[in-house]
Amino acid sequence: MVSNPYQSLQDRLGITETLPYTAHWSAAQDFLQLLTDHCLENMPTTIIECSSGLSTLVLARCCQLNKSGHVFSLENGIDFADATRRNLQHFGLASQATVIHAPLKKHTLDKTDFDWYSIDDLPENKIDLLVIDGPPGYIQHHSRYPALPLLHQRLSDQCTVFLDDAERDEEKEIVALWQEQFPFFKHTFIDTERGCSILRSRNPG
Ligand SMILES: C[S@@+](CC[C@H](N)C(=O)[O-])C[C@H]1O[C@@H](n2cnc3c(N)ncnc32)[C@H](O)[C@@H]1O
Repeated sequence: MVSNPYQSLQDRLGITETLPYTAHWSAAQDFLQLLTDHCLENMPTTIIECSSGLSTLVLARCCQLNKSGHVFSLENGIDFADATRRNLQHFGLASQATVIHAPLKKHTLDKTDFDWYSIDDLPENKIDLLVIDGPPGYIQHHSRYPALPLLHQRLSDQCTVFLDDAERDEEKEIVALWQEQFPFFKHTFIDTERGCSILRSRNPG
C-alpha cells in the first residue's frame, strides 16, 4: 500500500479522509505545513492564491479552524477550477473558499508581455496572505513574476507572500526582481523539498 505523504498534515488539520493530490503538481507537504503554521498563528482575513488544488483545501481548512478568513483562488484551467470546487464541497469547506476561473490574459509589464491570470473578478479586499504556486513555469519565462507588480497595491501593510518552487533558478530571479522593485519586503528562504520564499511586508503604509 502506498503511504500518504500528507498524513501528518491531515492529522494536524483533523482531516480523516485522504486529501486528493497529484504527485509533482500538488504543493508538497512541507510547503503546506509552513502555510498551515502561518495561517493558524496569524489568522489572515483575506487569502489570495495563484493556482488552485490541494493548497486551496488546506488553506480553507485553516480558515475553518480559525473561524475566520476566506480564500480566493485564481485558477486558469476551468476543469481544475471545477475539480477544486467539488473537492471543497466534499470536504465541507465550500464556505471558506471561492475558486475564481481566471483565464490567462496578456499583461504588459515594463514593455514585456506576460500571460497571467485575469484579476477582473478578484474582490477589492486588502490581501493578508498571498500564495503563489502558478501559473506553471512552462508557460513562459518568469511565469510567476507578475504576481507582485499586479497585486502589490492590494497588499495589506502586514501581508505575507509565500512563493513555492523557490529553489528553481527562475524563481530566484523573480524574487531578486521583486526585491529591487519592492524593497519593503524582507525575504526569507526556507529549504523545503522544492524551496519556499517568504516575503514579509514592512510597508509603513
Ligand atoms: C503547481 S499546480 C497548482 C497546485 C496547487 N496549488 C495545489 O497545491 O494543488 C499549478 C497549475 O497547474 C495546473 N495543473 C494542476 N494539475 C495539473 C496536471 N496534473 N497537469 C497539468 N496541469 C496541472 C493547474 O492549472 C494549476 O493551477
